[in-house]
Amino acid sequence: MNGAGTLFNLSYEDARARHKKLAAEIKKHDKLYYQKDAPEISDAEYDRLRRELETLEAEFPDLADSDSPTQNVGAAPSKGFKKVKHDVPMLSLSNVFSEEELEDFLARVRRFLGLDESEPVELLAEPKIDGLSCSLRYERRKLVLAATRGDGAEGEDITENVKTIADVPKELPKGAPDILEVRGEIYMRRSDFEKLNERQEKEGKQIFANPRNAAAGSVRQLDSSITKLRPLHFFAYGLGEVAEGLKISTQFEIIQALGKWGFQITDQVEVLKDIKAIMKNYEGLLGRRADLDYDIDGIVYKVNDLKLQERLGFVSRAPRWAVAHKFPAEQAITVIKGIDIQVGRTGALTPVARLEPISVGGVVVSNATLHNEDEILRKDIRIGDRVLIQRAGDVIPQVVQALADKRSGAEKKFIFPEKCPACGSLAIREEGEVVRRCTGGLVCPAQAVERLKHFVSRLAFDIEGLGSKIIEQFYEDGLIKSPADIFRLEEKNKSLTVPIRKREGWGDLSEKNLFDSINARRNISFNRFIYALGIRQIGEATAKRLAGAYGSLENMKAAMKAAQNRESESYAELLAIEDVGPSVADDLLGFFAEAHNREILDALEAALTIEPFEAPDVGNSPIAGKTVVFTGTLEEMTRPEAKARAESLGAKVAGSVSKNTDYVVAGADAGSKLKKATELGVTVLTETQWLELIGNV
Ligand code: IVH
Repeated sequence: MNGAGTLFNLSYEDARARHKKLAAEIKKHDKLYYQKDAPEISDAEYDRLRRELETLEAEFPDLADSDSPTQNVGAAPSKGFKKVKHDVPMLSLSNVFSEEELEDFLARVRRFLGLDESEPVELLAEPKIDGLSCSLRYERRKLVLAATRGDGAEGEDITENVKTIADVPKELPKGAPDILEVRGEIYMRRSDFEKLNERQEKEGKQIFANPRNAAAGSVRQLDSSITKLRPLHFFAYGLGEVAEGLKISTQFEIIQALGKWGFQITDQVEVLKDIKAIMKNYEGLLGRRADLDYDIDGIVYKVNDLKLQERLGFVSRAPRWAVAHKFPAEQAITVIKGIDIQVGRTGALTPVARLEPISVGGVVVSNATLHNEDEILRKDIRIGDRVLIQRAGDVIPQVVQALADKRSGAEKKFIFPEKCPACGSLAIREEGEVVRRCTGGLVCPAQAVERLKHFVSRLAFDIEGLGSKIIEQFYEDGLIKSPADIFRLEEKNKSLTVPIRKREGWGDLSEKNLFDSINARRNISFNRFIYALGIRQIGEATAKRLAGAYGSLENMKAAMKAAQNRESESYAELLAIEDVGPSVADDLLGFFAEAHNREILDALEAALTIEPFEAPDVGNSPIAGKTVVFTGTLEEMTRPEAKARAESLGAKVAGSVSKNTDYVVAGADAGSKLKKATELGVTVLTETQWLELIGNV
């Protein structure tokens, strides 16, 4: 019914009666949706009720009294989360799985710092909470921002939701620094998680697989009044940006200070001095794991001395001064009901075991990867087999082995298909490859859909409203066939007989949110853009290198065209890029040689602003772009430390001296390299001169 059309015939009395009815109905649905998390009508229907109410009030303004739902918009969902840059990046951790790997970690730390075997390196051990990380920013002791980790450099603003968590202080006591970023983990207690799931089940709503998912789902609610109803907690474990003047010298003191400022910290923290103590702590916590009311998936060891932490710095996304010792994978036994073949973005056929659902360490598992054809043969896995499966952290569950002695004889061997199940094209295995690939390329719908999913994924275009299910649906319905269609969707929607908002599960608001999140991505960095194309072997790091080397899409396209000739200089330049060898170059050039791909690029270029790649900020580093060689024994820092520092300031560190060397830094007892430098007339610096140059004395 069209509210506006019927209104003009209404008397004031009729309008008031209708308003009363509508208001009551909307309130009922608000409550069901926001407080009980159990909507009874679709977004579209709800939107229709609200629109009718608004039209009535526009016609009869008297009706818009303070009790009307239009005056109480507090609960209306927001448009999505704003992006937030982390000035101090939110790092991840590298993992170790054994005592041996832990010893390697300690040896690396010692080597980097130039400490010998006998010198103890004190570590702080704390549980690795299985939740989601969050950064809290306080200015003048008031909570002003809460953000997710995102990709480490940029997360999302979840302030309103985090404010509903009782563990998070909204104001810090006197004496706390003026600017303080607290890093920690949002999590849900096991007991609360079970109660929440019982409630969800009773109300016929989504059951969460584990406390981590439940916590993440709750934090990611666009409406903070839902988050408020979820039992969330927060453990603090570290600091981001801090105003100067905080006199703290160890990680342990950080934990103590956090406690003093009113944060919850785990009571499982311990300072350890050697590997024996570390292993004892590990065994101990592993034993207590089941008794804790929160999920942990390992132990984090952090070098306790903050000065040493600073010297150690970080590589890529993980600090050199910390490591996670993961607990062993959890295992269970179940039955393989069937084997499905999934077709990936590059055409790889992956066999996936469909399992009798089973709980593994608190998570219900119903699929497990079988990796490839050879793996099935090697493990002799048959349909109907009882199998041992395992799940470690957030990796895809795996089938460890078939229990052959439990066979009844009715199990069936799996015959790996030689045709793509999605498009029927031949699937072939190239020599030396374990993977069988669909040769359908552009005609294969499964590959197209997977490429689209990759295109909108977090490290690529990061388009929030376009989840996997929606991509699949829109592809099937012809709304999005290629990446550029995403940016034409809003226009196209205007001429659809059934616009998106009218589709099942959609409404005005969700449609608007979708277009907002697409439009927010019309500006994209060049490196993300390259990564999003989903070219085989071009991961995030290589995409950055390519973006750095070519600067713009225009340059890159020209270079790729020229490099099709393998004798050309452009080809040699391509191979000179770090990470790019002949095989990567083949994939890259293959992509650009394909006319259809070039059309996609043109269409995207027309719809987007592609921003030049921003190289990591090396400030006004005096050594950016310079080539440096270290030789002899350095006094102030170890060789790896000197190398890391130089690289972080934008220099290239080489192992031998040539005429391209800008500086040779000569420590005590320098030999042939120093001699060569003098011969070639390369600038030679003492260690002190070097430190002066980089401003570090
Ligand atoms: S320290 C600089 N400590 O683990 C090191 N992380 O795999 C970065 N986590 O993103 C974090 N408990 O979400 C640290 N006690 C703990 C932790 C912890 C859980 C999470 C955190 C981080 C992830 C890294």
